[in-house]
Amino acid sequence: MEYKSTNMLHESQSGAAWWERGVIYQVYPRSFQDSDADGVGDLAGIESRLDYLAELGIDAIWLSPIYPSPMADFGYDVADYCDIDPMFGDLTRFNRLLAAVHARGLKLLLDFVPNHSSDQHPWFVESRVSRDSPKRDWYIWRDSAPDGGPPNNWISDFGGSSWEWDDTTGQYYLHAFLKSQPDLNWRNPDLRDAMMAVLRLWLDRGVDGFRIDVLWHIIKAEGLPDNPINMDWTSDRTQRDRLIQLYSTDQPEAHAIAAEFRKLADSYGDRVLIGEICLPDDRLARWYGSVDCPQVHLPVNFHLVETPWNAASLKRMISDYEASLPTFGWPNWVIGSHDARRIAARVGEAQARVAAMLLLTLRGTPTLYQGDEIGIGEVVIPPDRVRDPQDLRQPGLGIGRDRSRTPIPWDASAYAGFSTVDPWLPLNDDWRVRNVAAQLPDSNSLLSLYRSLLALRRSHDALAIGDFMLIDSADDVLAYMRRYAGECLLIAMNLSDKTRPLSISQSISQSLFQLLPTDACVAEVLASTLIPPTISSSKLALRPLDAALGPNEGLVLRLKEIR
Ligand code: GLC
Ligand code: MG
Repeated sequence: MEYKSTNMLHESQSGAAWWERGVIYQVYPRSFQDSDADGVGDLAGIESRLDYLAELGIDAIWLSPIYPSPMADFGYDVADYCDIDPMFGDLTRFNRLLAAVHARGLKLLLDFVPNHSSDQHPWFVESRVSRDSPKRDWYIWRDSAPDGGPPNNWISDFGGSSWEWDDTTGQYYLHAFLKSQPDLNWRNPDLRDAMMAVLRLWLDRGVDGFRIDVLWHIIKAEGLPDNPINMDWTSDRTQRDRLIQLYSTDQPEAHAIAAEFRKLADSYGDRVLIGEICLPDDRLARWYGSVDCPQVHLPVNFHLVETPWNAASLKRMISDYEASLPTFGWPNWVIGSHDARRIAARVGEAQARVAAMLLLTLRGTPTLYQGDEIGIGEVVIPPDRVRDPQDLRQPGLGIGRDRSRTPIPWDASAYAGFSTVDPWLPLNDDWRVRNVAAQLPDSNSLLSLYRSLLALRRSHDALAIGDFMLIDSADDVLAYMRRYAGECLLIAMNLSDKTRPLSISQSISQSLFQLLPTDACVAEVLASTLIPPTISSSKLALRPLDAALGPNEGLVLRLKEIR
């Protein structure tokens, strides 16, 4: 086997924070559990399912927005940052939920949407009344270009111009997303104070941190220059991609705002800030800030969602990402979200098991997306049931987000136990067999695999906070080691549906003899994507390192020294 050098990318430190060891679970509240028969999930519904989440073995729950909203973008258009939408409950309900989450030793994170509000927010209502309104400058208003058109060429992420003409005052306002989501002006100190007060309010109420929506959009270049044309654009891509978002995103001033958020969070102790940021590695890493002036704890790493599903691409991506991190920067991994295509739809059922192992054994904080743990696959949304505004505005591109937002099928009863009425989005076609109740007792199910991997992660520091090192391996095999305080785990995953040699013993003994006992050998099979976790590990056949991986097989092996 060809030998290439492997290098230790980052050494982990002991004394990790909860959000470094922990696993985050994203709840999309509209689709988790309905409690009041309106077909839409709510806070009481979430509270009724907390035991499921606690037993799954996650550490923190991130809720997509629950604030009052006209729901043009399903909560990402906030009409009041300080309250709860009646569809979801009220503040009393929220406080109950928070207490119930904490009572189970879990954390609760909210979604903070600072880039834009709803056009129904009282701030915007006031802003649009007159050019002299005290709130005028809380949003981004500009005169038309000399030809009467929009002030610049910026394109909304949801298609069309980023500018909307407003007749009352004869100016355009900026919106990076829907026209009902006007962008807030973070250059205005009063707006800034008001938003900081929002964060303080929720931190005082006891939330454990925030996922910050489209953080890299938060402030625009002074003078709002035209964005450069993207010469690589093709018509199968979204309108947004016609331009390079050079002046509309990732401005230096945005980093200063992130640092301000961090200072506030740190003043509350052990809270976490997760920044939604879609940028290449070098620019993503800058959102950690510096040791002296930190920014967000976790700039979201979307690579697992975007990288082609093969061992070579994943290996390169993982190595590049690890190498891009500042020494103090803790990694994180995401494999699904309310915006991305379902992982099981993308890679298929067999590889969804490998994906689970990958997500939960890489170095860094994993975020699980609700429903991925039972392997919900492609859900075809009939045209008359499409709700996603992005899909409705740019049909035919296959970018619909409804297919990842369908309700959780809890059991085989009517409406899958999600609701007692027809839910706001259809269920997955196979909900009668693919549901939580069916998978819980089935030791072969994906849910059981998730539960066992989460338990394994919790019981092995090597997985939670250990060193990480990629290992040379056969084609189609992705392999790495995790090591902590004398324990050394080898994770090997076959990304193909053919048998592949494990054959990494050479690589291990040749390259790592300073780090590992020279004659490392398998002491224990801790997990397999093919063998149910109920079969105790002692009964799992120990295989030598030159054995084979079955089709779509992933293994977590504990290595030992033999004399
Ligand atoms: C984020 C959210 C997405 C929303 C957009 C605008 O990307 O994840 O759902 O549409 O921001 O707020
Ligand atoms: Mg409801």
